[in-house]
Amino acid sequence: MDTSLKDSIKAEYNKRFPQKKFIPGESVVPVSGKIFDAQEMIGMTEAVLEGWWTEGHVAEEFEKKLAEFVGVKFCTTVNSGSSANLTAFTALTSPWLGEKRIKAGDEVITIAASFPTTVNPIIQNGCVPVFVDIEMKTLSIDTSQMKKALSKKTRAVMVAHTLGNPFEVKKVRDFCKKHRLWFIEDNCDGLGSEYDGQRTGSFGDISTLSFYPAHHISTGEGGAIFTNNALLHKAIRSIRDWGRDCWCPTGKENTCGVRFNWKLGELPQGYDHKYIYSHIGYNLKMTDIQAACGLAQLKKLDSFIRQRRENYASLRKKLAKFHTYFDIVEATEKSKPSWFGLLLTLKDDCGFQRKDFTQYLNTKKIGTRLLFAGNITKQPYFINYQVPYRKIGDLKNTDKVMNQTLWLGVYPGITEEMIDWIAQSFEDYFEQFK
Ligand SMILES: Cc1ncc(COP(=O)(O)O)c(C=O)c1O
Repeated sequence: MDTSLKDSIKAEYNKRFPQKKFIPGESVVPVSGKIFDAQEMIGMTEAVLEGWWTEGHVAEEFEKKLAEFVGVKFCTTVNSGSSANLTAFTALTSPWLGEKRIKAGDEVITIAASFPTTVNPIIQNGCVPVFVDIEMKTLSIDTSQMKKALSKKTRAVMVAHTLGNPFEVKKVRDFCKKHRLWFIEDNCDGLGSEYDGQRTGSFGDISTLSFYPAHHISTGEGGAIFTNNALLHKAIRSIRDWGRDCWCPTGKENTCGVRFNWKLGELPQGYDHKYIYSHIGYNLKMTDIQAACGLAQLKKLDSFIRQRRENYASLRKKLAKFHTYFDIVEATEKSKPSWFGLLLTLKDDCGFQRKDFTQYLNTKKIGTRLLFAGNITKQPYFINYQVPYRKIGDLKNTDKVMNQTLWLGVYPGITEEMIDWIAQSFEDYFEQFK
């Protein structure tokens, strides 16, 4: 790219996104957001000027670097984390897997304190989610309940590293191995998290990431799917790319060498491989423009993770003294989370309601979020569609989270001044109970 164009983009970036001074009570303390500079814009402009626009060599490079970072052989980029989950689960229903494929009516163990699109692919493929409870210390899957959830129809476990806190991933993996279940690791919130010294997203048969702006790195919209299994990788790409049988990269032809010599389904011999479909597919590809943004973000990833951990530690330390009112989520044993947010659960006898507290924080311009769908079985869509599901026990802890949990931001845009403002605002609120 011409140096003068690069300089113009840098100047434009500086003009549009000047550093803002934080004014407590006036400036917003967001829960999340994307952090970028002119490099993302230069990368995206370069991809626009190349004129390719769909998935191409930039996406390929992004996939290679992502796979290296997570520590998995194959990576496929997609247009969102939700698409990643949908493609990941659907790949396990591929006829290419023979007897091992998941079929409609099969059961999948998961949790109800979830983001909806961790659970939805199970339903969208005609399968039945079986909900186990979470445990309160980490708000992660209570692995001791998995055995109770097993039935003759169980075929998989699909669960997320909630807000970047790894669940007991080895226990889940061992359980899946023992009972010959597929293991799908939704790592959308956990890029850079580690369990027992190994990156999350590298344990499951398939794992996923999201690059929505709230996440560790952003491509605007975007996601990725990871696997070490070559056949699953092929199925993932087929389902992402209209369901096609052909595996040529976008814009390439005849990689198989026998493009006009295939005999599949009941199609005539020699039907163009480009138009042979072996799956009920979608088109969920990421564009090179998005991937160019992702490549620039990846260069910042290590510092993003470091900053998230520092912010989490500082916020946790400053809020610790209010322990009579709430419990702060704890990192799972043996884990090193790349935190997405700081979760706290109000004590039963704290003396106030979550809605009053979050409204109060809102007046202080401090953003809060709930733990996604709370108890997903109580969401209107579960009731309106009469989604079939099973649950183990009464999901008591899940309900507690639905009623009493909230989270605060620790993303790299959070500064020490903001953390001090959060702590000060907490102090002021609790003053009334003294
Ligand atoms: C755990 C989890 N899975 C999946 C998703 C969906 O990702 P996306 O918003 O990119 O579709 C999210 C979104 O935040 C998430 O938190």
